[in-house]
Amino acid sequence: MARIIDGKLVSSAVKEGVAVKVNELKKQGINPCLAVIIVGNNPASRTYVNNKKKACEATGIISKEIALDESASTEELLSVVEELNKDSSVHGILCQLPVPKQIDKNRILAAISPDKDVDAFHAINVGRLLQGVQSFQPCTPAGVIRMLEYYNISVEGKNCVVIGRSDIVGKPMAVLLMQKDGTVTVAHSKTKNLKEVTSKADILVSTVGKANFVTADMVKDGAVVIDVGINRNAEGKLCGDVIFDEVEKKASYITPVPGGVGPMTVSMLLENTVTAAKIQNGIE
Ligand code: GUN
Repeated sequence: MARIIDGKLVSSAVKEGVAVKVNELKKQGINPCLAVIIVGNNPASRTYVNNKKKACEATGIISKEIALDESASTEELLSVVEELNKDSSVHGILCQLPVPKQIDKNRILAAISPDKDVDAFHAINVGRLLQGVQSFQPCTPAGVIRMLEYYNISVEGKNCVVIGRSDIVGKPMAVLLMQKDGTVTVAHSKTKNLKEVTSKADILVSTVGKANFVTADMVKDGAVVIDVGINRNAEGKLCGDVIFDEVEKKASYITPVPGGVGPMTVSMLLENTVTAAKIQNGIE
């Protein structure tokens, strides 16, 4: 039976550290501030943004929300980003994704100042990540790494399989696992014999976004299974990609959904906001 990796526990520990750092900055007259842009009425995005704001408040970070109408144009959004780039009281900027179809997402992400890009989505920060000189951690993958570290799970020399190759999670996840000296394979929708690939994983990270995608026969005995998926099952209940009940019998460690990777993403965002405040004040 697998040991549960408790994302809420690790996330609380990270938030405690953030609160201490925020306090120290405040003593120096620096008030870390995160600006979150949300466009339209996507209910999942609204929930994520509310969670981010709540987490900011809990750690003493000022949060500023800029909500634009569903019909907003790329130009409107660009002018909001420009204002926030110039505003020295704002240290971190993120635009909640997805944005409505009429908006050119890549132009928006490219317009956010790399020094305020707490999502680490800007091409400069992606490049820095590949070079291993990043200031900002890509939040979800960095959250996964932090959980592994908390439970003393070594990556060095391990076969790591990441299912999914998205810009936000799959690709940066693979890079961070490589930085930790893992032997990394990225599987995706065109991978042949997926089961054969995943069965070799000592550390299996699923980022697919489909309920019941990872079955026990895809998992090696004793593997560490990290479930990044956030889905709804047929009954409308929140679930990950992994069939938890059957995989937990085979794995050595497993993350639940909810209460696994999800809480970590927000905590890493807070850490990045503190880093941004430091960078902009010449402290880091
Ligand atoms: N939408 C889903 N995940 C994320 C994230 O990590 N950052 C932003 N900005 N949007 C998202």
